[in-house]
Amino acid sequence: MTDRFAVQVLVFSASLREHSLNDRLATLAARSVEALGVSVDRAAMSDFDCPSYDGDEEREGHMPEGAVRLKDRLTASDGFILVSPEYNASMPGILKNVIDWTSRFRPQPFTRRYGMLMSASPSMSGGNRGLWSLRIPLEHLGARVYPDMFSLAQAHQAFAGDGRIADAQLQKRFDETIACWLQSVEAAKHYPMMKTQWIEFLGERPDEAIDRVEQTEVRAA
Ligand SMILES: Cc1cc2nc3c(=O)[nH]c(=O)nc-3n(C[C@H](O)[C@H](O)[C@H](O)COP(=O)(O)O)c2cc1C
Repeated sequence: MTDRFAVQVLVFSASLREHSLNDRLATLAARSVEALGVSVDRAAMSDFDCPSYDGDEEREGHMPEGAVRLKDRLTASDGFILVSPEYNASMPGILKNVIDWTSRFRPQPFTRRYGMLMSASPSMSGGNRGLWSLRIPLEHLGARVYPDMFSLAQAHQAFAGDGRIADAQLQKRFDETIACWLQSVEAAKHYPMMKTQWIEFLGERPDEAIDRVEQTEVRAA
């Protein structure tokens, strides 16, 4: 019998590079999640890479396979851990591009999904500014993005030979942050009366012609 409260987490990094620091951190995050008995769908950015968004292609029903895959794998998961490089103090263009494509599906797959954001960079800030830019489209789309974000500074020197973070205290903080986030994902599954609707421009005059709204039953406690 399957546990109806068991959660599944999608984990991927937003780098296509073979020796990506962010992908190493994503692998470590997947290990940390699995160590807590939670099942992981480990994806690669190459699974989701898409041609540049084109509204004409969308109108003709040509949704790129990368966006279809991200939609399907998000939909099959309760939460996602996204480990993203910082490019010029923001998120990589390939990531924003696939978010834009994926946001066009209905039901819109980011809404009500629990997100945890991480980054790795050789810099002292660990790519943290890029994560603040990434919060904006994800929260706009109704993802529940966890307040804490893990940014691994000087990442080119931070890993030990076994793939863990060499600094034991930092590794402990990493594991504990993931454990706390997972509890919030599990809690949301246990308590389905939590808010379950997405209204793109909440507080704006309702207008059927432009509204992007997904309403499901809001249950009283
Ligand atoms: C176009 C570009 C812009 C970058 N901008 C930043 C930046 O703003 N902040 C930063 O910390 N690192 C920046 N970097 C360095 C990346 O953090 C570094 O290349 C990192 O290793 C990329 O992630 P990956 O190893 O997962 O591929 C930039 C790299 C590139 C290629």
